[in-house]
Formats: sequence, C-alpha cells, structure tokens
Amino acid sequence: MGLVMLNPTFPVDLRNRPLHSLRMSITDRCNLRCEYCMPGENYTWLPSKDILSFEEILRLTGLFADIGVTRLRLTGGEPLLRKNAEKLVAMICAAGRFEEVAMTTNALGLAKLAQSLKDSGLSRLTISLDSLREERVKAISGRDSLGQVLAGLDAVAAAGFTGTKLDTVAMRGVNDDEFCDMIAFGADRDIEVRFIEYMDVPGAQEWTKEKVISRADMLDLFEEGFGVRPVSYGVQGSAPAARFQLPPGAVWKGRDLAGQVFGIIASTTEPFCGSCDRSRVTADGMWFKCLYAELGLNLLTELRAGVSDDHMRALLLGDWKKRDDNGAEQRLQQEERAAFKVEGNNPHLEMHTRGG
Ligand code: GTP
Ligand code: 5AD
Ligand code: SF4
Repeated sequence: MGLVMLNPTFPVDLRNRPLHSLRMSITDRCNLRCEYCMPGENYTWLPSKDILSFEEILRLTGLFADIGVTRLRLTGGEPLLRKNAEKLVAMICAAGRFEEVAMTTNALGLAKLAQSLKDSGLSRLTISLDSLREERVKAISGRDSLGQVLAGLDAVAAAGFTGTKLDTVAMRGVNDDEFCDMIAFGADRDIEVRFIEYMDVPGAQEWTKEKVISRADMLDLFEEGFGVRPVSYGVQGSAPAARFQLPPGAVWKGRDLAGQVFGIIASTTEPFCGSCDRSRVTADGMWFKCLYAELGLNLLTELRAGVSDDHMRALLLGDWKKRDDNGAEQRLQQEERAAFKVEGNNPHLEMHTRGG
C-alpha cells in the first residue's frame, strides 16, 4: 500500500473540523453487559458475513490514512474478542501509516494478550473500569470480572506499555463515592484515570439526567475529598478529556497525592463537538461521523463491489466535507432530556456497535 498524497491540505468538514482520528470497531461482540452501553438482553448481533476481514480493515484504515487520519484506535464491542486481534494489530502497525495505534478494551483478555499486543506494535491501551469493588463491578457490568481486570493491568505493565489510561463512567449513586480511591489507584500504577460524564447514547437505556455527574460537580467532589481543588493542567485541544492536577496539600486516606494528573470527559454537560476530529467505523463497515449520528455511510458494499482506491478516497473525502454533526451539543439543547430511544432493532444505533 503506497502513501498517496491526494491533496496536501486535508479536508475539513462544514464546521471547519479536520479528520485526524479514526475509531475502528473490530467486533460488536462483548463479554460484559455494562448498563450504560448494552441495551438489556435483546439485541441483534451484526451478521458474521458482514464483518470486515483483516485485509478489508487494513485497506480501509490505509485509505483513511491517505485522507489525513493520523491516529487509529481499535474498539469493539470488546476488541480482544476478535480472533487473532493481535495479528491484525501487527498488520496495521507493519503498514506504518499512523502516528499511533491504540486500543480501548475492558481488559479481560489482557492477562493473555498484553505481551503479544506490545510485540505487535500497539502504542497504547485505554482500559474501561468503573469501580474497584468486586460486587459493584459485577452489578455494573454483569460479570464478576475485577480480578481478571487487575491481572490484565499487571500484564500491561509487565509488557512495558506506558501511557495507559483508565476510563470510568461517572454515575450518581453508583460509583461516585470511589473517585478519590480511583485516582489513588492510578497513582499506584502510573495510570491516568479519566472520569466520563454519563452519556445518553443509544444503548444506554438506564440513563437519566439525575445520574449524570457534571464536571463541575466532580470538581466539587474532589475538592471535598482531597481538601484542595484540582487545577487545570495542559491544553485540551481536540482531546475529549480536560486534564487536571492535584495541587500541593492533596491528601487522601493519609497519602500525599499532590501532582497526580487525571481527566474529565464532559461530553454531556460541556460537549466538545466544536473541535471534534473523530469518526468511527463499525465492524461491518458503516462509517459514522458522530457518536450520535443516525445515518452512516455503508463502506462494506463499496469495498466488496471491488471499487478502486481512488473511488474510495473520493467517497470518503466527499462525505467528510459534508459533515455537519454536533450530536452532543444538540442533545444538550433538548429540554426534556431522556434516554436516547432506539426505534425497532437496529444494532448500528447502539453504543456497543459504535465502540465508544
Ligand atoms: P486518548 O485521549 O488518546 O486516549 O483518546 P480518547 O479520549 O478518544 O479515548 P477513549 O476511547 O478512552 O475515549 C474516552 C471516551 O470519551 C469514549 O469512550 C467516549 O465515551 C468519549 N468520547 C470519545 N470520543 C468522543 C466523541 O467524539 N464524542 C463524544 N461525545 N464522546 C466521545
Ligand atoms: N456514557 C459514558 N461513557 C460511555 N461509554 C460507553 N457508554 C457510555 C455512556 N453511556 C464509554 C466507556 C466505555 C467505553 C468503550 O465507552 O468508557 O469504557
Ligand atoms: Fe464529535 Fe458527535 Fe461526539 Fe460531538 S457528539 S464530539 S460531533 S462525535
């Protein structure tokens, strides 16, 4: 696959946003049932025949690199449920088209796979974990998995990964008494913890606005817990997370945690659509230009119709230039805000298919 520079100035969408980051889902299957993501017991998995092959994923990611994407993130469902996921990582990394290739995972497969992912060239891991208490992890995710996650984190460190992040969905009355513990846990393991405001994405059927803890409320909570208010750290740019640092005097359970950095992703109360340079492709090749988009572009049909790379690049460029999405901002403006309703049974509209 050669590097094709179609146009040295890469396209921007209708809101002047470039496309830099691609979230590629490699399976819609998941071994957890997190209440904020999966729609209860009745869901339709994507048909196996439609799941992109490794070769198709390689070609597609290369085409996105051609039109300006520099950061690739592999997601799911749970990406490590895709058979030979580490081989796919090796293929993508060997092609050398991205500044970084990261993965968002629930860590259940990492005790086994961390080393081969590292050897395959994966740059970084982001791990989802919402509690440090066994019974809560089970209640939130439907499975007694904390031990396996901790073993996974050990394996990640042993394999030599750095820059590991931990994503925690902040839910009122569910895990909001653990946030300071989680920052201390991050300090122990040299992991940056990020708290994500609970989002009313499709699939989050249990969402209510009362369960959302805003960034402002989280900062109050931290001030109360640590005795000092976290201060802003670094520049946010196009990243979803605003970063904060604990100033001198920050103490938790007798421990000095001054200097510790953490993030807050305020996607619900302070959306960052204005600087959104991301889009996502589902495991069956639907391209969604917004987490909340109802319509996607079917890339699978194009790929399997045997079209040329030139045709594909023109299609991708043309579609990005027409992008006008600001889903999270629009949700915020809705007065009577309730869980996002999915009509019928459309797996493409659900968070576990979109990959977060
Ligand atoms: P890094 O900072 O490079 O690790 O990337 P990231 O923040 O995109 O990684 P991650 O997959 O951990 O994203 C964290 C969470 O932020 C996701 O799971 C989503 O919940 C949320 N998020 C990421 N991208 C978007 C987005 O485009 N829109 C909205 N509304 N939320 C997003
Ligand atoms: N609200 C906030 N974050 C969510 N995620 C999934 N669903 C939601 C939601 N409703 C995030 C979690 C998960 C990642 C894949 O997506 O961090 O770990
Ligand atoms: Fe981007 Fe859509 Fe998320 Fe806004 S809601 S940040 S436009 S993906």
